[in-house]
Amino acid sequence: VIGASGGIGAALAAQLERRGDAVVRAARSVPADAAIDITDEGSVAAAAAQLAGRAPFDLVLVATGLLHDAAHGPERALRDLDGPAMLRAFAVNAVGPALIAKHFVPLLAPDRPAVFACLSARVGSISDNRLGGWYAYRASKAALNMIVRCLAIELRRARPQAIAVGLHPGTVDTRLSAPFRRGLAPDQLVSPDTAAANLLRVIDGLKPEDSGGCFAWDGAPIPA
Ligand SMILES: NC(=O)c1ccc[n+]([C@@H]2O[C@H](COP(=O)([O-])OP(=O)(O)OC[C@H]3O[C@@H](n4cnc5c(N)ncnc54)[C@H](OP(=O)(O)O)[C@@H]3O)[C@@H](O)[C@H]2O)c1
Repeated sequence: VIGASGGIGAALAAQLERRGDAVVRAARSVPADAAIDITDEGSVAAAAAQLAGRAPFDLVLVATGLLHDAAHGPERALRDLDGPAMLRAFAVNAVGPALIAKHFVPLLAPDRPAVFACLSARVGSISDNRLGGWYAYRASKAALNMIVRCLAIELRRARPQAIAVGLHPGTVDTRLSAPFRRGLAPDQLVSPDTAAANLLRVIDGLKPEDSGGCFAWDGAPIPA
């Protein structure tokens, strides 16, 4: 689990461990099996090298992501756009997972079904975008979904048993969503534990033909 310090990442790692899986955690800000800053390819490569002794992996789960930081929140309109903040969103939400794929796909089990799953977001769906706004987050998640699609096509030839997907966890009670929940009905916000259980159910049900797609917490495909 990469991003094991996050709300959803920590819950995913804990649940995998509770069900008896051997779990390896990579994180930027808390003690973990490997330290990783996904915006620095050297750090991603070093983490992969450090964890190679624990491979092969049946599942690589990318649970990192960025919606807002202290200085910038999601944009409501063009006047809110900030170039460096947009580039940071792309670095964390799209380029980072691609670099993780570059260095961690070789550690997936080659001879049995294995999954490379990235937490994406429904708002990264271009055809589903009716509200607008959130330029950088939406666009970087759309880019992530394209990267997952390219990866799936490459894996089909190189590692036919591997599956690459994006996953939408629902709206989850974490640091990331905290400022943006006004107007949500209580049943629209789930705990990290519930989200993790939902996501693991979806991952467990994935079939080879699902590779390249993006799926919601209930297993429903999300259109590109
Ligand atoms: N929460 C929701 O409602 C929701 C909805 C849709 C999609 N998602 C997606 O779900 C994923 C997890 O989100 P969350 O809600 O669990 O948010 P979170 O609690 O803020 O976790 C985000 C994680 O990303 C890590 N991260 C950010 N930049 C990093 C970097 N440069 N290098 C390494 N790690 C980095 C954070 O590490 P630090 O602890 O070091 O900051 C943290 O572990 C994200 O991709 C998000 O877009 C969440």
